[in-house]
Amino acid sequence: MPLSTRLTEYFGVKHPIISAPMALASGGVLAAAVSRAGGLGLIGGGYGDVHWLNEQFEAAGNQSVGCGFITWSLRKNPSLLDDVLSRRPKCLFLSFDDPEPFASLSHAQGIPVICQIQTVKDAARAIEVGAEVIVAQGSEAGGHGEKRSTFTLVPEVADLIAAKSADTILCAAGGVADGRGIAAALMLGADGVVVGSRFWASAEALVHPRMHQAAIAADGDDTVRSRVMDIVRAIEWPERFTARVLRNSFIDKWHGNEANLHTHIADEARRWRQAWTDGDVTVANTFVGEAVGLIHTIQPVQEIIEQLTNEAERIIRDHAKGI
Ligand SMILES: Cc1cc2nc3c(=O)[nH]c(=O)nc-3n(C[C@H](O)[C@H](O)[C@H](O)COP(=O)(O)O)c2cc1C
Repeated sequence: MPLSTRLTEYFGVKHPIISAPMALASGGVLAAAVSRAGGLGLIGGGYGDVHWLNEQFEAAGNQSVGCGFITWSLRKNPSLLDDVLSRRPKCLFLSFDDPEPFASLSHAQGIPVICQIQTVKDAARAIEVGAEVIVAQGSEAGGHGEKRSTFTLVPEVADLIAAKSADTILCAAGGVADGRGIAAALMLGADGVVVGSRFWASAEALVHPRMHQAAIAADGDDTVRSRVMDIVRAIEWPERFTARVLRNSFIDKWHGNEANLHTHIADEARRWRQAWTDGDVTVANTFVGEAVGLIHTIQPVQEIIEQLTNEAERIIRDHAKGI
């Protein structure tokens, strides 16, 4: 029996799983595969390239998918939102900055809004702007995020929702890569999960094969939160956010030594960009979360969703029987 929750009912999907809108990695093929397998698939709008986004919506074909944006970056190029909303995505996912005015613009078109937050204060703001879904993202997560852990942030936001806005749906993000993670998230008060790293490690993700291999060889101790990658890419992330990546010799050299990195930036940026293109994981960073230690194979999305949901359903069934 599939797990039915407020999330599955609201979006009319089979499983309480949303795929994270991962910049560069979550294209239309991945998003469509997730929706086809019974989850809610999202295209990662990332830093906002209109041609890339158009290609990805085409690649998703007639599957219903949503789209996510890095909110502070969308603010620099707000017309992108009109393009995306005109495609009638299943939802708009906003993360990393105040959701307005984008939440209101989306609501005006009848498109539900998912706000990913990293603090209780931002969860309160998401309630204020009428987000249909709040995603509480813990620091275990791959990619950008902040400091709170999933295990305490999710129940704290669940309490806030219960007190202030009982109809708001809650998802957990950060560290969910198997059925145990889904079951735990539901026990903490979530209605579903946002899964990034596990779908990043799928056959459909837009990821260099060497990065996939590096992730398979790594365990959860091998990741670190850093801003070194944003410095070399010249992406001006707000100070509060860092990104979780696999450690490598580049990180070991520059993490904690950022001031010095600025003095070598031209050469180091060139070296990093070339390594990204080549899939040289000793220099370019593999963006993935602590859950990397739970990921041992690159599989098609359909198989991943079957495994995650079968395991979660079994755990919850056995738990109910007191086994
Ligand atoms: C490679 C990668 C890229 C990501 N890019 C984005 C992004 O562009 N926008 C966003 O809101 N979240 C992004 N995230 C974070 C996810 O939304 C989500 O919070 C996270 O993946 C959940 O944790 P997990 O990786 O342990 O599943 C990214 C995550 C990964 C792994």
